[in-house]
Amino acid sequence: MKRIEAIIKEEHLDAVKAALDAAGFVGMTVSHCRGRGKSGGISLEGRAGTYRVDLLHKIMLMLVVRDQDISTVTDLIINVCRTDQTGGAGKIFISPVEEVIRIRTGERGEDAI
Ligand SMILES: Nc1ncnc2c1ncn2[C@@H]1O[C@H](COP(=O)(O)OP(=O)(O)OP(=O)(O)O)[C@@H](O)[C@H]1O
Ligand SMILES: [Mg+2]
Repeated sequence: MKRIEAIIKEEHLDAVKAALDAAGFVGMTVSHCRGRGKSGGISLEGRAGTYRVDLLHKIMLMLVVRDQDISTVTDLIINVCRTDQTGGAGKIFISPVEEVIRIRTGERGEDAI
């Protein structure tokens, strides 16, 4: 099992969720967060001139999936979010998950996802 943490733009959340739903990936955790990538924020034009926004508002979408579903899920996310080349489209981190326990039933592992 793997944990997918996708940091995406909020404007893409509904479309990503719909694509995951349609493919049968229903369970997920969504958090609001702030972050910056390699480009270190953005410059904006304000009344007082140009200013820098260091940490941008982002959405973190977290899903735990079976190893064999990793490329399906990451492709779905990428296809929705890679719309333009202006930057900030997001990043996906994948890490191993040792165990999952479904509290109500006591199921464990892939059965519990
Ligand atoms: N190395 C990292 N570690 C943890 N979080 C990161 C890292 N890089 C990016 N993020 C998170 O992902 C978000 C999106 O990053 P972003 O897409 O701007 O990456 P980038 O490297 O700047 O690429 P781009 O040039 O396309 O903007 C960031 O706001 C931050 O929350
Ligand atoms: Mg960036």
